[in-house]
Amino acid sequence: MMSKIAVIPGDGIGKEVAPEGAKLLEQLSSARGLGLELEFFDYGADRYLKDGTTLPPEQLEAFRRDYRAILFGAVGDPRVPDSRHAREILLALRFQLDLYVNLRPVRLLADRFSPLVGKGRKEIDGVFFRENTEGVYVDVGGNFKQGTADEIAITEDVNSRKGVERICRAALDWARKHGEKTVWMSDKSNAMRHAGGLWQRVWKELARDYPDLELRHMYVDVLAMQMVLRPELFRVVVTNNLFGDILTDLGAGISGGLGFSASANLNPGKIGLFEPVHGSAPDIVGTGKANPIATFLTCALLLEHLGHDAEARIVEKAVDLAVAENVLTPDVGGSRTTSEVSEFVRAQVARLAAA
Ligand code: NAD
Ligand code: IPM
Ligand code: MN
Repeated sequence: MMSKIAVIPGDGIGKEVAPEGAKLLEQLSSARGLGLELEFFDYGADRYLKDGTTLPPEQLEAFRRDYRAILFGAVGDPRVPDSRHAREILLALRFQLDLYVNLRPVRLLADRFSPLVGKGRKEIDGVFFRENTEGVYVDVGGNFKQGTADEIAITEDVNSRKGVERICRAALDWARKHGEKTVWMSDKSNAMRHAGGLWQRVWKELARDYPDLELRHMYVDVLAMQMVLRPELFRVVVTNNLFGDILTDLGAGISGGLGFSASANLNPGKIGLFEPVHGSAPDIVGTGKANPIATFLTCALLLEHLGHDAEARIVEKAVDLAVAENVLTPDVGGSRTTSEVSEFVRAQVARLAAA
């Protein structure tokens, strides 16, 4: 059976790392007969500035109907200061495809990448479940009396019971399946009583359905601090869209940086969107410094989504070998380029896939 995979490199270093990931998928597909059929799309700032296109509705429909996954690079370009195209491409994919689970693992690839004294893999590793279709990202609100000294800007935080419940269940089900005992829900219900109150009530109700798990709560400000002081507390965390965005960059920070952090946008049984956590990194575009490993680990999540678990493990093993031999970019202490690291990883994949 063929699986259609869309590749959207986007902007900046997205155009440098996503094609490396695509090559890796092509290579694994032919070595192991996976039947992946990759197709590139040019949505991003260049296209937007050329003809105004962001993401056509009929394209979204085609993705939904015919594709099993999207490998995404990053969007964001200094020539589009309001990031309109980024919202109309990336947020539209997440929202319109209803990919409510943004799964973001925090994984320390080797103890030397930990910036926290005495904290290694055992302490730092965990998984974040970021709600991905609601919150302040829905873009409801407005600017009133704009251009006057009395301007007021309002951004609404939208939380539905169904939305909160389904992301909490996703985290709890994942914990159960992976033998984790404790799941943390994080909010700011002391200050934001309407939205936070809903999260609190849903969380208390869910405790009845998961008597085998310990459902804990921590305010997001304290959780941010404890991620640095006692990261071992957090094996599984569920939170809203904005807090999840912020906490997962913090998660990247305690595990070697954005060059290593992968993510999956999911709704079970539907097409998945796979992207590194990092952005388009305009500061290093064209220098060969972009770390492709976040994209390779993202490819592993994509392969898992398609049921190719053995191949996902091969990719992770190949990345481990690059780490072991320090064939890495400068952001993580190496001196190699994007393509050198990529070629090394693909050579390891070729060897492991043939074995
Ligand atoms: P960024 O993630 O692009 O970069 C932050 C810092 O991390 C930079 O110093 C960058 O050089 C470094 N970095 C990021 N990825 C790296 C990699 N793979 N290898 C080596 N270094 C890496 O965040 P930013 O600078 O705040 O944002 C730039 C643009 O990207 C903005 O337009 C932003 O909106 C957008 N953005 C897009 C996404 C996405 O498409 N998913 C995510 C985050 C930011
Ligand atoms: C991410 C990014 C996006 C987000 C931006 C580019 C809208 O930071 O994927 O983490 O906030 O979700
Ligand atoms: Mn982010």
